[in-house]
This record gives sequence, structure tokens and C-alpha cells, in this order.
Amino acid sequence: MSIEIRTAETGERLDALRPIWHYFGSPAGPTEERATGMLIPEERLHVATDEGAIVAGAGAFEFELTIPGGPVPTAGVTVVGVLPTHRRRGVVRELMSAQLKDAHTRGEPIAALWASEGGLYGRFGYGMASVCADVEIPKAHTAFNRALDWPGTTRLVSADEAGGLYPGVYDRVAATTPGMISRTEEWWKKRTLADSEWRRAGGGELTFAVLEQADEPEAYAIYRLNFSYTDGVPTGVTHVVEAVGATPEATAAVWRYLLDIDWMAKIEAELLPADHPLHLLLLEQSRMRFRVGDGIWIRPVDVGAALAARAYAGDGDVVLEVSDEFCPWNDGRYALDGSKTTASPDLRLAVDALGCVFLGGFTFSDLLRAGRLEEVKEGAIGRADALFRTDRKPWCPEIF
Ligand SMILES: CC(C)(COP(=O)(O)OP(=O)(O)OC[C@H]1O[C@@H](n2cnc3c(N)ncnc32)[C@H](O)[C@@H]1OP(=O)(O)O)[C@@H](O)C(=O)NCCC(=O)NCCS
Repeated sequence: MSIEIRTAETGERLDALRPIWHYFGSPAGPTEERATGMLIPEERLHVATDEGAIVAGAGAFEFELTIPGGPVPTAGVTVVGVLPTHRRRGVVRELMSAQLKDAHTRGEPIAALWASEGGLYGRFGYGMASVCADVEIPKAHTAFNRALDWPGTTRLVSADEAGGLYPGVYDRVAATTPGMISRTEEWWKKRTLADSEWRRAGGGELTFAVLEQADEPEAYAIYRLNFSYTDGVPTGVTHVVEAVGATPEATAAVWRYLLDIDWMAKIEAELLPADHPLHLLLLEQSRMRFRVGDGIWIRPVDVGAALAARAYAGDGDVVLEVSDEFCPWNDGRYALDGSKTTASPDLRLAVDALGCVFLGGFTFSDLLRAGRLEEVKEGAIGRADALFRTDRKPWCPEIF
């Protein structure tokens, strides 16, 4: 076995996706999913070869991810797969290392991913930066605790029309919501609005509703109606793929629309942020099942650049001593403006722990309680928490 790690060459992108698709039981992947994999340019797609044959791949989408303070260029890590013939020989370690070095060279201060194996990525410096929830609400218990007075209109549109109307709403929300990613026109078309057979999984077709006020889109929903009828009564499910409102009223209105659809016995949604307004909108919040799991993971690729790009809640500083075995260029003490310093540290932590608090999804106090932080100077955790405080929890509405 002679393993070589390199970026994909022209014409090799599909081969680089095959290792991950192997695990879905479909070596080449369904056509539509292949198309989204093809959004990753060759130079952002690493492969491992054995005697010339590709046996593993790892890609990094190019997008901006919003951190507190605004969007930053990000390596959106995806399609990580090593064929079972080559597992546990250090291949993914080599791929992760090459990928992070390239992201560093390109000047992307952070990398982000969704982990299907939570135990894997901490060793490479990724920290779980948010939680998100799968939600289920019985149709009979969807009343709000206040009257909703939405003055606008709601209409169903085609995927094409949605492609013109939705991005404006999404961009307004993404600009200030940590964890949200930028979407190109191609991303909208090939991923968000594409009704792939594979994702449909036997459910209804992808449906698009837009809520407008004075002819301006203020909210939208992407959903499926999964119809069923059992023992003479409708037992279908409204499956919400994405519901976004640019204002609190528009958010409430789009959810009201989704919760009210006739014939459905329950409403399901995935990937909702921990602080979703539904908690405070529903009269019977206790009827909502809110199953929390891990959300997006963040890896500071360049700790100094990442800290410099972030906004802080107020003046003041803390000195963070960051250790990073996997990307040693990050080892050192930092002021919050991102400069390296020789000052004595206030807090000592590993780079993955910094990833956990970076978007504001967890606090330094949370890290301390989990034994993942050393408070060198008394009171430093309180100061750091005040500075890293955010108004809302991170939300990434899609798995990439
Ligand atoms: C998970 C997967 C990528 C690991 O690749 P690999 O080449 O076998 O991993 P490596 O040999 O480089 O292992 C690197 C380290 O991760 C650990 N590790 C590997 N797979 C792991 C897993 N699934 N969970 C936790 N730890 C894992 C190894 O024990 C090793 O630990 P060490 O640093 O203490 O030595 C590969 O098995 C795979 O493709 N699985 C199916 C698809 C998948 O899960 N992809 C990730 C999608 S997010």
C-alpha cells in the first residue's frame, strides 16, 4: 500500500465523491446529489490514492459563514469518506491535515462541518459550536399564545420563482445569524430548491410558499406534505425543510401558515436552533417534542485571524492561551484583536474548545463545567463570557 494525498485533478471530482457515497449504499450517488458535490472545485477536493486508485476523499465548500460580527470566508468541510478497504490506517488524518493547511494558505480563518461521527473531529481541532433540534408538534396543539396580525399575503410559487424571491430574505437573516452560510445562485438551484428523489424519500413533492408585504418577500417556507390516511382519519405530516422570516412577525406568520395546513396530523422540522421562537410562541410548548442533538462544528484554522474577525460585546480583553497539536501554527497566547502576545494568560484551552464558544453557542462557563478549560486568573471566565456573549444562538439551517 502506498498512499498519496493530493487535490483532485480535472475530471476526478466524481471519483473523489465515491468513497463517501459507498456508505450510502450507492457508489456513485444519485444524480442530483452528485451535482451538489460538483459545486466543490477540484482544488478544494482532496483525495487519497493507493497505487493510483482513489480510495478516500474530503471536500471543502467555499462559502462565508456568519460569526458574531459578520460573515467570514470558511472551509465548509464535506464528503469525508475513506473506503472500508483502507479504514484505520491514518488516511483521514492525512486528508484533514492537508485540507486545513490549504485552508490556512487560502486565508480562511475558520473551517466548519456537520459531524456524522461526533467522536472523530475533536482530535482535528473541531469543537461542537451549537446544538439544534428535531421538532415534532401535534396539529391539535399548535395554538399561539398571542393573536397574530400578519397584514401580508401568502402564495405558492414554483422553484424557479422561489429562486428569485427567497435569497433576499435568507441573506437578510444570514447576515446577522451566527452559523448561517452564504448561498450562491447555483447552490440555491442545485441544493436548496432541488427536489431530489433521494431526499424526498417517498414523501410529497417539495413545495414553496412565500409571504409578502407590500409586494416584498418577508418570509418563506420550503416543505413537503407527506400524506397518509389511517382508519378513516388523516394522519399526514407537514415536513418543514426550511422556514425563514426576516422579522419576528414574518417568522411567526410563516410558522402559523405551516402549522395550519389541513389534513396533516403533525408538523415536523429539523435543525432548528435551540432558541427558536416557537418555544415562546406556542401556547402549549410542552406538546412540542424538541429533540436536541449536535449542530455545526467550528475549527479555528487561523486563531489570530478568527479572533480578529469576531465582534465582542463591549470593551475589555482576555488573553487566551490556545494549544493546537494538529495545526501547530496556532499554538500561543492571543489578545482578542487576534495579535499574539507574551502577556500572562487569563484562560488556557485547546483549539477545539475555542471552536465550541466561537459562535456563542456555548460559554466559557460551559467549558469549565465540562473540564475543558483552565481559568488561570480568577474572574477571567466571567469577563470572557461577557465579551463573547451573543444575542441569539447559532443556527445553520442545512447540513452541507
Ligand atoms: C470515519 C472515517 C472517515 C475514518 O477514516 P480513517 O481513515 O479510518 O481514520 P484514521 O485511520 O485516519 O483515524 C484517525 C483517528 O480517528 C479515529 N477514528 C477513526 N474513525 C473514527 C470514528 N468513526 N469515530 C471516532 N474515532 C474515529 C481513529 O481511531 C484515529 O484515532 P487516533 O487519532 O487516536 O489515532 C472512515 O471510517 C469513513 O469514511 N467512515 C464512513 C463515512 C464517515 O463517517 N465519514 C465522516 C463523515 S462526517
